[in-house]
Amino acid sequence: MMATEQAHAKLTLYLHLLGKRAADGYHLLDALVVFTDLADTLAVTETSGELNLRIHGEFASDIAAQPPSSNLVLRAATLMQAHFNVRSGAALQLTKRIPVAAGLGGGSADAAAALRLLNRLWKINAPLDTLAPLAASLGSDVPACLYSQPLRMQGVGEIINPLAPQHHPNGTLLLINPRKSLLTRDVFAACRPPEPTQIPAADLPDWQSARNDLEQAAIEICPDIAEILQWLSAQEGCKAARLCGSGATCFGWFEKATMAQHASERLAAQKPHWWHSVTALMA
Ligand code: C5P
Repeated sequence: MMATEQAHAKLTLYLHLLGKRAADGYHLLDALVVFTDLADTLAVTETSGELNLRIHGEFASDIAAQPPSSNLVLRAATLMQAHFNVRSGAALQLTKRIPVAAGLGGGSADAAAALRLLNRLWKINAPLDTLAPLAASLGSDVPACLYSQPLRMQGVGEIINPLAPQHHPNGTLLLINPRKSLLTRDVFAACRPPEPTQIPAADLPDWQSARNDLEQAAIEICPDIAEILQWLSAQEGCKAARLCGSGATCFGWFEKATMAQHASERLAAQKPHWWHSVTALMA
């Protein structure tokens, strides 16, 4: 029997850098993370022991180039098998709709979806809190993607606090990517974090007037980002325009879905070479 799981694209509505961890150079941050209805799909059937993965979809070729050993879905599956002493295997199929190396957490979302899916398929039935340390060992953003709900993310990504429903942001987003991939580690390496003395405010900042502290470094590496942000800011009904994660995707936030749709139509006519998607925030 085939089971499936959706891997929703992750969006950082704000991302504040608070310093750098001395031990490993990872950055301490405070971020508001939400998920959108743009998603990859992971499907699986059980095998007698082996693990394999086939990749389809618009962005399949961007990850097919990577060696299988570095693929986060296969690494997640190997980890689950070993950690829970599972004898069964899995034939996995990934449909890739989220652009790769784009700041939308696609690889992390796929890995998190693999953990949730195999947890069900192999009847491990562990609570998400038990899977969270495994998720963190796969990448900083994988714990957030494991919960896949509006949350505040702190530490280097391992401190997760889901938002109460009354704080869930809503609205429609226009996502734009210049079709240039950007490596997270390159953007972090180029940013200038403050000394690790700031303690995040206890209250949730108002995300619309907050910022993404990776924006400047990302623009230095990929100047198209500045052009995208400028274009978005000029659109009628766009209330905020910001970089997603480490980029190069940017989002424009619209209260009214029709205005996001109209902006996307103008974009298709004016900038046909940019990838774009109109997507709603998930509750
Ligand atoms: O954890 P992950 O492999 O996704 O991170 C990719 C790179 O991003 C790391 O090698 C590190 O350079 C950088 N990073 C960071 N601080 C974080 C998360 C990631 O410096 N909190």
